[in-house]
Amino acid sequence: MAEDLSIISGTKEEKYKALLPQIEALLAGENNRIANLANVASALKYGMNFFWVGFYLVEKDELVLGPFQGPPACTRIRKGKGVCGACWDKKETILVPDVNQFPGHIACSSLSQSEIVLPLFDKSTFYGVLDVDSDRLNAFDETDKNYLQKICELIFY
Ligand code: SME
Repeated sequence: MAEDLSIISGTKEEKYKALLPQIEALLAGENNRIANLANVASALKYGMNFFWVGFYLVEKDELVLGPFQGPPACTRIRKGKGVCGACWDKKETILVPDVNQFPGHIACSSLSQSEIVLPLFDKSTFYGVLDVDSDRLNAFDETDKNYLQKICELIFY
């Protein structure tokens, strides 16, 4: 599967477009949430060549590290803390063009330069976040927001 996904090429939008049906196929017929999150993290890592991509899931008043791909990351984030905690507070997608300019940003890796965090909802209950980090400044935009949103909706249909 990794070989298949890593040959996706083209513009960012073309890559997402090629990846969407592959993610749909990965999720089809499987309702185990952790298995699905794990496969989506892998598909995004290999399909989009992201530096770090993964999920943080709500546990009481914290977000706890879930399935991810990339370097090891911090395991627990309190509500309101960092970009992920701010996303939980606001319950909306947060785009951070330069993590050094985001007050309270939690640096799991000194290589991360920009970040996008999307809220996940199971029915209408906040479930956690999808967090993607880049080692380049300004890596994420509305295209990422739109396609990552679609991918989150595929997981929590
Ligand atoms: N930067 C995040 C922490 C998670 S890591 O990026 C994987 C934050 O500020 O919430």
